Amino acid sequence: MTTATTGHLPVTGVVGTAHTRIEGLAKVTGAARYAGEIPFAELAHGWLVLSTIARGRIRSVESAPVRAMPGVLTVLHHGNAPRVDGDYQGLLGRPDPIVEVFQHDQVPFVGWPVALVVAETSEQAREAAEALVVHYDEEPHDVAFSAGRPGTYLPDAASMRTEKGALETELAASAHVVDAEYTTPEEHHCAMEPHAAMARWDSGRLEVVDSNQGSTWVADELAKLFSLDPASVRVRSEHVGGAFGSKGVRVHQILAVMAATVLHRPVRVVLTRRQTFSLVGYRSPTAQRVRLGADADGRLRALDHQAQNLTSTVHEFVEQSAGFARPLYDADAHHTVNRVVRLDVPTPTFVRAPGEAPGSFALESALDELAEKCDMDPIALRARNEPEVGPVSGLPFASRNLLACFEEGARRFGWADRDPRPGLRREGRWLIGTGTAAATFPVLVGPATAAVTAEADGTFTVRITAADVGTGARTALTLIAADALEVAPERVHVRIADSDFGPAMIAGGSMGTRSWAWAVTVAVRDLREQLALGGDIPPQGITARSDTSQAIGELTQKERHSFGAQFAEVAVDVTSGEIRVRRMLGIFATGRIINPLTARSQFIGGMTWGLSMALHEEAIRDQASGGHVGADFASYHFAANADVPLIEADWVDDPDEDDPVGIKGIGEIGIVGAAAAIANAVWHATGVRHRHLPIRPDRVLTADGGADRTG
Ligand code: MOS
Repeated sequence: MTTATTGHLPVTGVVGTAHTRIEGLAKVTGAARYAGEIPFAELAHGWLVLSTIARGRIRSVESAPVRAMPGVLTVLHHGNAPRVDGDYQGLLGRPDPIVEVFQHDQVPFVGWPVALVVAETSEQAREAAEALVVHYDEEPHDVAFSAGRPGTYLPDAASMRTEKGALETELAASAHVVDAEYTTPEEHHCAMEPHAAMARWDSGRLEVVDSNQGSTWVADELAKLFSLDPASVRVRSEHVGGAFGSKGVRVHQILAVMAATVLHRPVRVVLTRRQTFSLVGYRSPTAQRVRLGADADGRLRALDHQAQNLTSTVHEFVEQSAGFARPLYDADAHHTVNRVVRLDVPTPTFVRAPGEAPGSFALESALDELAEKCDMDPIALRARNEPEVGPVSGLPFASRNLLACFEEGARRFGWADRDPRPGLRREGRWLIGTGTAAATFPVLVGPATAAVTAEADGTFTVRITAADVGTGARTALTLIAADALEVAPERVHVRIADSDFGPAMIAGGSMGTRSWAWAVTVAVRDLREQLALGGDIPPQGITARSDTSQAIGELTQKERHSFGAQFAEVAVDVTSGEIRVRRMLGIFATGRIINPLTARSQFIGGMTWGLSMALHEEAIRDQASGGHVGADFASYHFAANADVPLIEADWVDDPDEDDPVGIKGIGEIGIVGAAAAIANAVWHATGVRHRHLPIRPDRVLTADGGADRTG
């Protein structure tokens, strides 16, 4: 056996054992610096001014009085900003035209960037920004989202619609039919750490210190926007305080680069909490109609999932909620469609489990309604409808352990003792109920490069442009590299989040760790072959590099998914409208688990968000102004510690056989199905079906759950 451990015994088996975060001590002691707080000599501070109208044009920016205020260095706006070119293909296709910031006078929504005031201190920039007078020519706006409203259209992309079989025929032939409408509100993925970026020019190179989900992603698009040689742009993002889909190419990086270019000094732009509500994307509200038709024994004859959501007038982003059923349930007639309407609002974006989170609320609620009509246990109904192959694709499943999750979950939750009848269990003022729902999320992988160096001192250095957005990815990669090298993790140093390390997949789509681990594993394999040749390690070490583009391109086409079973118990006081979630249990089949400690945190974090989605979160848009009512953490209500009960998350054995490490990805599936499990538990407690989120106290009080078209 060859090992990389000349002079040491081989050590393996740290993957799958619990490890606290490598940077944990630095984070809790404040030693870990975030993009908004790293000191730089000569640093100037930019403060954004956002539009107060929802549609129209900027007539003038009265910058002269503000430029005379203390410390003010410049005021950038559409009349004087450096030119950029947003006509490019980025990681996600054509970018949202908001990247062409300050390039024209049009305002497409409240909160559109209008000016950047740059000053010696952040406080001076803020004072001047708040004093800046902007005149607008206002036009009528429309921000009213509702089901089936005028302007709703079917987007071009093939993924928007799937159709198999004759829907109306199968519905007519069904013994039981559910036909119901579900809605979810606008939801925001404000991270604990707001977006921040410092930009400076250093010896002809542009350097950006950022908080993002992918430093080569941001570097690549900044190079394209500013027509720079990609090699002359370096982006780093060492520590990130949450991202959830919001931390891509956003205006803070672009404006910091513009200001640094104009002023010839480092400039930092930090978004305020309020600004993140309009500048970094959000989850579209959805209106979903689900029709299910089943035989008397629960077998699905018809499944129709129609989803509608919104996007901005400047860019099309579609929350594909109706995709959720495609891998999950088969039916003789199986139709799914995603529609969208353009309104005078910011462009929504990817938010943890985009599509699956709202889609699972609608479909998994409808399954529960069907179970009631069929007089079947909800888990038995799902087992009855397990497909052999992909219901839409016809492809085989790489692995499918949904029922294993339900079996283990039912056992641990105590499901077997459940009386299915609603509204029967009372403890004092509380009505008690339990509910369940299925979860699934695609298993994806992206190309990555990595470098692994055997150092002369016996340690190993891994370099990869991974992003640890708080997930524990840095620690997971250390364990993976240590096992591959057969050394103790203490001898492995993983350096991440520096675009100079080369291209790598972003922390997105639950595929970050899988994609990076693949590249690290391949580089280690090569390094060990080099080391096996023997000889001394020179002072600069021996480095092996990998690029997984070809390997992942050769993966065979299969249905690749994670699965999960969500369980919840709630207590409902129908006289006050209060709902208390008493416990939640999630059992997941999501590939090999690298670090059980941080994996459990990921699942519990997602489930907590599902609780928050079920009961609390809802951004309200004022029709008159077109802006938010209360874009802050005081008004945007989300679950706090007192709302969150005992949440348990665990997993079944489910290694991915095509992945070198067995990983599937765990970042997003925790939220999927969680809100449906809670809504189903509320029905079980009260007998009232709630089809609109969040299930607010007023909705409980008025038993206003929404219409079932089948009565
Ligand atoms: Mo995540 S919503 O794929 O960044």
